[in-house]
Amino acid sequence: MEEQEQEKGIGLDGSDVTAVLTELARFLFEHKWLFHFSNVTILMVEIPDCWRRCLAKKKTSGVREAILKAAGRVSQKCPADEDDRLLDEFLLRRNELAAKARSLLACTRLLQDDDRQTKIPTRMTPKKLHEVSMLARVLSRLCDQHCTSHLVDVGCGLGHLERVFSRSCDKIVAVECDEATCGRFLGLSSSVEVVQGRLGDEAEDRRLAKEIFARIGEGKPIGLVGLHCCGDLTPAMMRLFSSTPEFSFMAVVACCYHKVQKDRNKPVSSRVQSEILNSDCKNLIYGPSALRLACQESLDKWLKLTDQELEVREKDFGHRAAFEAFCHDRRLVKRKRKRRQRGSSDFVAKIMDTYEVGEGQLDQDQIKSDFTEYCRQTESEFPLLSAVAALQLCLQSLLEYFITLDRCLFLIDNGLRVELREIFDVGLSPRNIALIASRFQHR
Ligand SMILES: C[S@@+](CC[C@H](N)C(=O)[O-])C[C@H]1O[C@@H](n2cnc3c(N)ncnc32)[C@H](O)[C@@H]1O
Repeated sequence: MEEQEQEKGIGLDGSDVTAVLTELARFLFEHKWLFHFSNVTILMVEIPDCWRRCLAKKKTSGVREAILKAAGRVSQKCPADEDDRLLDEFLLRRNELAAKARSLLACTRLLQDDDRQTKIPTRMTPKKLHEVSMLARVLSRLCDQHCTSHLVDVGCGLGHLERVFSRSCDKIVAVECDEATCGRFLGLSSSVEVVQGRLGDEAEDRRLAKEIFARIGEGKPIGLVGLHCCGDLTPAMMRLFSSTPEFSFMAVVACCYHKVQKDRNKPVSSRVQSEILNSDCKNLIYGPSALRLACQESLDKWLKLTDQELEVREKDFGHRAAFEAFCHDRRLVKRKRKRRQRGSSDFVAKIMDTYEVGEGQLDQDQIKSDFTEYCRQTESEFPLLSAVAALQLCLQSLLEYFITLDRCLFLIDNGLRVELREIFDVGLSPRNIALIASRFQHR
């Protein structure tokens, strides 16, 4: 019943999306000190005094407790002092914004996955099996609603979706840019055909569309699908979908936002470009550090780490940051070793096993000893760095919502009906939002 109600929905409203994007942009910009830099340089960046004081006192465990408290998972205490207030207010606003963005997502019973036990003759990991099973359900519903059994799977990779869904379709055309991967499809099923090509360039998109129609036949409604379409691929699909009336729906789950390279995809919506982001804000939210943070693990997953795991992370992160600052101070060049010696137990040795430092014949033992001393001098900062990293994770979902809502607005402004659904178990598959667009109202 609840699900039927949601099916009758009319899709996202452009002004609701714009309002949330505007608030997100403002909050993210206000807290740019948290994420405008590459994480390994964290020892060299300026942290506002009030936050430095607060986070040095709280450390990672205090930040974690405050996050749980703000989420109502442990009992509320009155803020004891200025530092408590600063952190509590940040978390309160962050949670409000996350809730506003989440309210635009339709969550349905589709999330209940009873397919993990499904016997599918393939060597898929449990994660991939979960993803293709859940996506297949969404596709079944969309194919029914749009009266089609023809799909185009863009960026099909090893063809996992084809293995699970080809029996439910008259035809799946699998588009993939990697030649070696395309060869793996041979003999998969008579209903699967492969087209090699790279989406994203206008002329190539036209060629690919022609090939697709030749394989499926003229005049038939087609669904466009993509599972974990990394970087520029999701915006490329959105453009193809918007400009090609033969495609009646599109369902895409994006990933690897940090691989978005084309300027026209940062942001993709011209309304976001002209009305929501000024150029500083655009460079921040679509800069490399923010895009990388947007596709990191979720805050929920981090909250489940044990104290011991957190301590190892703190040391790992601290030593890596110290190494960056150490090389920077001494103008030392570093190169990743081709062959890493594994198995070192201490943090300094692990880094020295991974990197070769300096050009020419620098004495690596001397460097190791200098670096050990440098770590001794800076290690009192490590708890602060790890507390900053914890706060960064509070922004991960906000950045991901921003990127996703920008994409929604592009499609809405192209006259399409748009909805967002969380279709995977986020613990198993962190990139779990399906962007679904339709060309006409559902029946
Ligand atoms: C992250 S993988 C996902 C593969 C598959 N859909 C899955 O979930 O197992 C992305 C795939 O898209 C392909 N790809 C990336 N950019 C592409 C483009 N512009 N056009 C076509 N394929 C592309 C890559 O070669 C890769 O196989």
